[in-house]
Amino acid sequence: MTSALRDQHGRSIEYLRISVTDRCNFRCVYCMPAEGLPWLPKQEILSYEEIVAVVRQLAPLGLRRLRITGGEPTIRPDLPALIAQLRAVDGIEDIALSTNGVRLPELAPALRTAGLDRVNISVDSLRPERIAAIARRNLGFQPERALEAALAAGLEPVKLNMVVMRGVNDDEVVEVAELTRRLAVHVRFIELMPVGEMAHLTDAHIVPSAEVLARIATLGALAEDPGPARGNGPARYLRISGAPGTVGVITPMTHTYCGSCNRVRLTADGRLRTCLYGDHEVNLRDPLRRGDPLGPLFVQALAEKPLAHELLSLRVGGLRALSEVGG
Ligand code: 5AD
Ligand code: SF4
Repeated sequence: MTSALRDQHGRSIEYLRISVTDRCNFRCVYCMPAEGLPWLPKQEILSYEEIVAVVRQLAPLGLRRLRITGGEPTIRPDLPALIAQLRAVDGIEDIALSTNGVRLPELAPALRTAGLDRVNISVDSLRPERIAAIARRNLGFQPERALEAALAAGLEPVKLNMVVMRGVNDDEVVEVAELTRRLAVHVRFIELMPVGEMAHLTDAHIVPSAEVLARIATLGALAEDPGPARGNGPARYLRISGAPGTVGVITPMTHTYCGSCNRVRLTADGRLRTCLYGDHEVNLRDPLRRGDPLGPLFVQALAEKPLAHELLSLRVGGLRALSEVGG
């Protein structure tokens, strides 16, 4: 065992989020413009072999846990092949996937067989017309089918992410929370971040998590809970009395949790980003393609990881869409 990498603020960095594509089959209103984004040309994107090469070089420095993100990762061909190669890297203990769930009923078994441990699924509504309106695409997405496919394949703990928007889907908070009484799933309500080109989504659409929890409390007693055993992030969890699943909140707009931030991100075009907000990134792709070692670049990038972001004071505008950054 090597010791965990630490940044200059003493935070240990064992967790890498890997974006495998900037593209998506949805156009969620809080994420990207209706017409999409200028997608990266294929040669700019890391191949699966290159992604694995990055992870192989970082694992000896203390990297332990991976999350595959996008865009929408499942639209990249043969994602299970990448999972299998990452699974084979020494030192990697946990591989998770963030997905919109559309292709999960079809892909869950192959992903599990390849060695994927668990999934997070975006579910912003349980109503078909509303799902299509928020995603600006009607792909016939059935959230419950995606959840059941994930549970049946053993991709657990299964987490469900709902971005709460006032006047758009906030009337479904209680209904979504109720899923945790029926299914062993962990629902996380996320405060909307008005980022990128979301001019139509403003501060007025943010629903503070305290309000979300107050509405859920009408269902029954809520007790603080450690939440699903494997979690890397900033969510706080509660359990409705007697429920198999938990409810959680992620509060980027009302709290900062930079102090416990344990993550860095690899963009689809091979840039290492040490903070979701702000523009600092280190190009790993070109050195990798030249055959240069990445370890020193990683160590240097961590040394520059900011202590805290300024989202709460900066507010709207100027940030890259999360589909470009990897969420
Ligand atoms: N605000 C909050 N969460 C967001 N996500 C993407 N864009 C935003 C945003 N503007 C998160 C959501 C979504 C996942 C893909 O990324 O959790 O489910
Ligand atoms: Fe796609 Fe996720 Fe962005 Fe929606 S939030 S457009 S599913 S990347």
